[in-house]
Amino acid sequence: MTETSSQAVPPRHIAIIMDGNGRWAARRSLSRSEGHRAGAGAVRKIVTACRTRGIGHLTLYAFSTENWSRPQEEVNFLFELLVEFLQSELPTLMQNDISLRVFGDVSGLPPASRAALAGVIDKCANNKRLCLNLALNYSGREEILTACRRCLDQALAGGAQPDELTPEKFAGHLYSAGQPDPDLIIRTSGELRLSNFLLYQCAYSEFYFTPVLWPDFDEAELDKALLDFAGRKRRFGGLDQKNRGQRTEDNP
Ligand code: FPP
Repeated sequence: MTETSSQAVPPRHIAIIMDGNGRWAARRSLSRSEGHRAGAGAVRKIVTACRTRGIGHLTLYAFSTENWSRPQEEVNFLFELLVEFLQSELPTLMQNDISLRVFGDVSGLPPASRAALAGVIDKCANNKRLCLNLALNYSGREEILTACRRCLDQALAGGAQPDELTPEKFAGHLYSAGQPDPDLIIRTSGELRLSNFLLYQCAYSEFYFTPVLWPDFDEAELDKALLDFAGRKRRFGGLDQKNRGQRTEDNP
């Protein structure tokens, strides 16, 4: 990394761990499904809000490889909701110049979800303003392992040497290939962990944790996160311009 300091540069890429649908529903004596449906409403709002705020990349953690351990009924509902979401949102994605990508192993998804994703990805392929990445059947560790396997396959097939592998070449094998690393990772619902999300890409991400439950995360909450981000000093392991050459308590 050559970049040493940037302040108040808006994030190019925001990634969100959407957590708290179940608790949102429980507080209202509603079913978990109703919580997820409200969560889908928040997804609609936040995608459009990111587009109008000029964010170029948005990654939403919608279903982890660990989420398969949830009751079958809940898993089924989540994938039905995904198909419904894709069908209803296609016009919005087209009108707003938004493309769609999946981070995760698509081959493990239910056939109806795969078909709906493939259709929307294809129709939105030339959209440029915002790239919406849905992390589905996603595991950060598995993503890194898969990239390692691909590098090994290539090396074994072509006789490449280990030191020819660069960070750029490695990143080219990740789901996020060609996209910037997330500048800002948001997690809702008060939990303070990454849960196997973007483990390679988060090296220099700023983190924003909020107690707000995902269905309540709206444009105003997004703006709070952006304001917080704007106040962060990002040094990428270097020094602030004003402190170059001197170490301070603030700048060890
Ligand atoms: C975590 O909340 C949420 C999920 C595992 C699923 C995320 C799904 C959505 C936001 C809805 C639909 C998404 C799309 C893309 C259409 P939780 O269920 O773990 O909440 P809890 O911790 O309060 O139980």
